[in-house]
Amino acid sequence: MRWKTLDDMEMGGKTVLVRVDINVPVQDGRVSDDTRIQRIVPTIRDILAKGGKPVLLAHFGRPKGKPVPEMSLRVTLPALEAALGRPVTFVETPSRAGLDALPADAVVLVENTRFTPMEEANDPQMAQFLAGLGDIYCNDAFSAAHRAHASTEGVARLLPSCAGRLMAAELAALEAALGRPTRPVVAVVGGAKISTKLDLLANLTRKVDQLIIGGGMANTFLAAQGHGVGTSLCEHDLAET
Ligand code: 3PG
Repeated sequence: MRWKTLDDMEMGGKTVLVRVDINVPVQDGRVSDDTRIQRIVPTIRDILAKGGKPVLLAHFGRPKGKPVPEMSLRVTLPALEAALGRPVTFVETPSRAGLDALPADAVVLVENTRFTPMEEANDPQMAQFLAGLGDIYCNDAFSAAHRAHASTEGVARLLPSCAGRLMAAELAALEAALGRPTRPVVAVVGGAKISTKLDLLANLTRKVDQLIIGGGMANTFLAAQGHGVGTSLCEHDLAET
């Protein structure tokens, strides 16, 4: 598989829209685990080093298509600035003119993409609007890439696009584990619900030597085998499956 990375793109003087996943845990108004923020730093630094202006697009929580103050990405700003060691400009309603007016080496964070229903609907108008904000699209949000939304899928079709460092590393790891693996291969899958992962699990059973199910969804297997799971998370209606 071949995909473009930051190394393939000419970025001097260009505005680079970067889809990141900074859907991080927050407690008492502060980011309580900044792992996801730390992991996007190499991409942002490399874009700056190539002369590009990174404009970060991200979702936060599930506000269901309308502005929800508690789900503003503003809460991530201090952690983002600390991780980057530089100020970040927060923009609620971005415009091309507004972005162009910022210094060439500015880092910009745009408000929660899910504050409009057009994002999750992958509305072509929103994708067009986003494409109008930048010159290049870089997707560094592997953990949100299974959703075809305007800021993940729609806009990628409209601008010259590439994978960020984190996305490239995830794709390379997937290829190494599932494409041409050194056997035996063991997959460990967790999560609350089995219903959203049935296709994935079926696919994995054809590729791996052992599959370990963890998290809440393990209970569904245990219940199907006749074990009591009490009031634990369990999708009892899927026992037959
Ligand atoms: C996550 O936290 O798993 C990703 O950011 C995706 O979030 P979502 O499940 O709300 O799309």
